[in-house]
Amino acid sequence: MRTHYCGQINESFVDQTVDICGWVYHRRVHPNAIFIDLRDREGVVQIVFNQEDAELHKHADQIRPEYVIRVRGRVVPREEGQENSKLASGKVEILAQELEVYSASETPPFQIDDTDISEELRLKYRYIDLRRPAMRDQIVMRSRIVKQIRDFLDQEGFLEIETPMLTKATPEGARDYLVPSRTHEGAFFALPQSPQLFKQLLMVSGFDRYFQIVRCFRDEDLRADRQPEFTQLDIETSFLDEEEIMDLNENLMRHIFKVALDIDLPKPFPRMTHAEVMRRYGSDKPDLRVPLELIDVADLMQSVEFKVFAAPANDAKCRVVAIVAPQGSKLTRKQIDGYTKFVGIYGAKGLAYIKVNDKDKGREGLQSPIEKFLPDDVLAELLERTQAENGDVIFFGADKAGIVNEAMGALRNQLGKDLQLMSSEWKPLWVVDFPMFDWDEKAKRWTALHHPFTAPKEEHIEILSSDPGATLSRAYDMIVNGVELGGGSMRIYREKIQRTVLGHLGISEQEAEDKFGFLLTALRYGCPPHGGIAFGIDRLIMLLTGSDSIRDVIAFPKTQSASCLLTEAPSEVSKAQLKELGITVKKKPVEK
Ligand code: AMO
Ligand code: AMP
Repeated sequence: MRTHYCGQINESFVDQTVDICGWVYHRRVHPNAIFIDLRDREGVVQIVFNQEDAELHKHADQIRPEYVIRVRGRVVPREEGQENSKLASGKVEILAQELEVYSASETPPFQIDDTDISEELRLKYRYIDLRRPAMRDQIVMRSRIVKQIRDFLDQEGFLEIETPMLTKATPEGARDYLVPSRTHEGAFFALPQSPQLFKQLLMVSGFDRYFQIVRCFRDEDLRADRQPEFTQLDIETSFLDEEEIMDLNENLMRHIFKVALDIDLPKPFPRMTHAEVMRRYGSDKPDLRVPLELIDVADLMQSVEFKVFAAPANDAKCRVVAIVAPQGSKLTRKQIDGYTKFVGIYGAKGLAYIKVNDKDKGREGLQSPIEKFLPDDVLAELLERTQAENGDVIFFGADKAGIVNEAMGALRNQLGKDLQLMSSEWKPLWVVDFPMFDWDEKAKRWTALHHPFTAPKEEHIEILSSDPGATLSRAYDMIVNGVELGGGSMRIYREKIQRTVLGHLGISEQEAEDKFGFLLTALRYGCPPHGGIAFGIDRLIMLLTGSDSIRDVIAFPKTQSASCLLTEAPSEVSKAQLKELGITVKKKPVEK
């Protein structure tokens, strides 16, 4: 039907006759001619229907935005002064000779080039939303990147192998999406939270370099960078250690950033231990574009009168930290109150601060609701340690370490944005040396920080039983600009260690057998040392396209409340279907 895409036409086609197809973008009626901008996947070209060809002109007069048409015509240079430098085809136009209307369109629910459309409407009419050039570009970029990933891994000798979607629960820590089985009444499949166990089994089978671009399903609280159904680049290798795996994956990311954005990421990526990032940034995914750090000051506060600081300063489970906002004194009282509310979201009970007006004047040069509670020597040492300058504001967080880290870590990012301190460089980072376990105070038990198949460091195997809290794992996370792009680890390949780890996680022998007996059995039949990683493809595309929402890089995403506005899924099913599955639905009583 067509010879070219609209977006391909340019001055090199002058005097050629072309056939193009697409959607009517804009339509302008002039006294002697009708101008149509025709749009397709690749771009836009202008078509002219002159009045001289009366029949054609009349036909063109009937077409409206979003009609689907085909036009045959001759490419001609635009008249001088009529060129459009914003369009690739802007130096030419097509003189129409033939017009065919394939489909009319009702007036669309929103205009394609409108920028202020509610997300609800966009998701309901997603197929129209995806016509918008910005959305189209993101989807095209996604396809190109995935192709690059496949080519890169193919070159590195990787095999792409699919794993089941109807499977058994995998322990990535979220709730499962369940699928009832008709043939086994009362039994359920779980959709995979990741292919973790299958990829490990593929290593036992000997496919020593595996990858898959794979959908994962997690029923968890959604945020701007989380979807219930998302895509991973899942990788597993045998006979490579963590250094080799990190090196390979860095090369992959450098390649992607180069082809997508022409950006050279550093070689190698910087690395920090989990302990270091928590101490300096209060986060296991610090945005290194923000040049601020948390500064521990508990030792200065142990005997001050101010109980808010003194109590946590004397408690090993707590932290007292300062963070300096450079030239923060330009922040208004209202803004500071705003930050106090902001840290409150993370459980902080307040946000003490000191404005440094003139540090040479000692106490007189400071302005603060808490300065009166702190002795001279403590104030002097604070200024010395924080290196605060005149005009800066020092903020304080004092509480349980977890609360301080979350609250002050988030404040650090916010100050970075608000005070425009962010570096424009891309900042990748490997975080390594994660603890194996995290203590869950509510449940009074250890949980796996990565997942239960992550290997402890060789030199920590001895303390695995005696001091689980101090055991470090062979896990690694890749962070770029504060986004956790991917995470992985070396895996346990010896049954005994796997059973010890499951034991610490409070998983009984029987439960282990029921849940992943097949993996434990496989470890007995010749399992190679292996390890891998998984990247969030949606998050990667979000980063590369500068999108604020993960929904903007997925063709058909779910809403924040995990539903699809287009198809209205999830939806009720017929009684007959439920009966076949042996399921009775009991509606929860509506809470009053
Ligand atoms: P993990 O659970 O860290 O590891 O997931 C890997 C990466 O997947 C992305 N991701 C998500 N993206 C969008 N929406 C979500 N709900 C979501 N959850 C995770 C993140 C994350 O870094 N099996 C292990 C990997 C391994 O050990 O090899 C795993 O799934 O970018
Ligand atoms: P208060 O004694 O509660 O009036 O608090 C005095 C100052 O300390 C106020 O600026 C509070 O915002 C701040 N503050 C209170 N609790 C904390 C805390 N846990 N961490 C940091 N600052 C706090």
